[in-house]
Amino acid sequence: MDWGKKNRLSQIIKPETGRTVMLAVDHGYFLGPTHKLEHVGTTVEPLLPYADALMLTRGILRSSISPEISVPIVLRVSGGSSIIGADLANETITTSMEDAVRLNAAAVALSIFIGTDFEHQTLENLALLIDMAEEYGIPVLAVTAVGKEIGKKDSRFLALACRIAAELGASFVKTYYCDEFEKIIESCPIPVVIAGGPKLDTDLDAFKLAYDAVQKGASGVDMGRNIWQSAFPVAKIKAVRAIVHDKATPEQAFEIFEGNKKK
Ligand code: R5P
Repeated sequence: MDWGKKNRLSQIIKPETGRTVMLAVDHGYFLGPTHKLEHVGTTVEPLLPYADALMLTRGILRSSISPEISVPIVLRVSGGSSIIGADLANETITTSMEDAVRLNAAAVALSIFIGTDFEHQTLENLALLIDMAEEYGIPVLAVTAVGKEIGKKDSRFLALACRIAAELGASFVKTYYCDEFEKIIESCPIPVVIAGGPKLDTDLDAFKLAYDAVQKGASGVDMGRNIWQSAFPVAKIKAVRAIVHDKATPEQAFEIFEGNKKK
């Protein structure tokens, strides 16, 4: 791997543990003003000391985040559809590689929609993006989107999607946790991080999700709603960090969470 690409990836996936806690705040790119992301800068600011990377679009980065932060940026560069439009899967590349470089992106992220009418289009997007990103040594994060079809989140489907992303040359892949998650890891030669998904019923559920994922081989999390929609987001991200980087159990993480609620 080229030095620059390896260096950028090391900023995100920490070499000390081989893992990462990415903070995802890119939801507005198709959801609009998501609850608790109405003012992204305010939501993100207290969480940044505990995030290994920040995932968002160029518009929110430029408008809402200080250029003086040291947290590496994973730039969402796919979009072009909305939650109320005809088809969420109808995405294109929305940001040039030159702009990603201007923004000092440590990686770029794009969704692929396997099994949809836009499978070919979004896989072509990924292949084109990788060709462009390789020119600059920028890693590409492929996101195995499931759109509204949440029922597709089984290991067979997600293993297929992750493997295809790896075959096309992605540097790492983001997917969902599911039963038999280890099957995804077994057949995917690149690091896999998990999305948190919609806010879970309890904090302990979110800790169990992160714990089970890393136990079964995930390289960490790219978590959004389960952190910043929490009543105690700083305590939540600290507890997730303990699971990902410090081998905490869900119960230990819960104690960390409780202990940090008042801080
Ligand atoms: C996925 O493509 C979205 O853009 C989010 O980045 C992702 O779903 C992670 O956020 P959450 O943990 O809220 O699912």
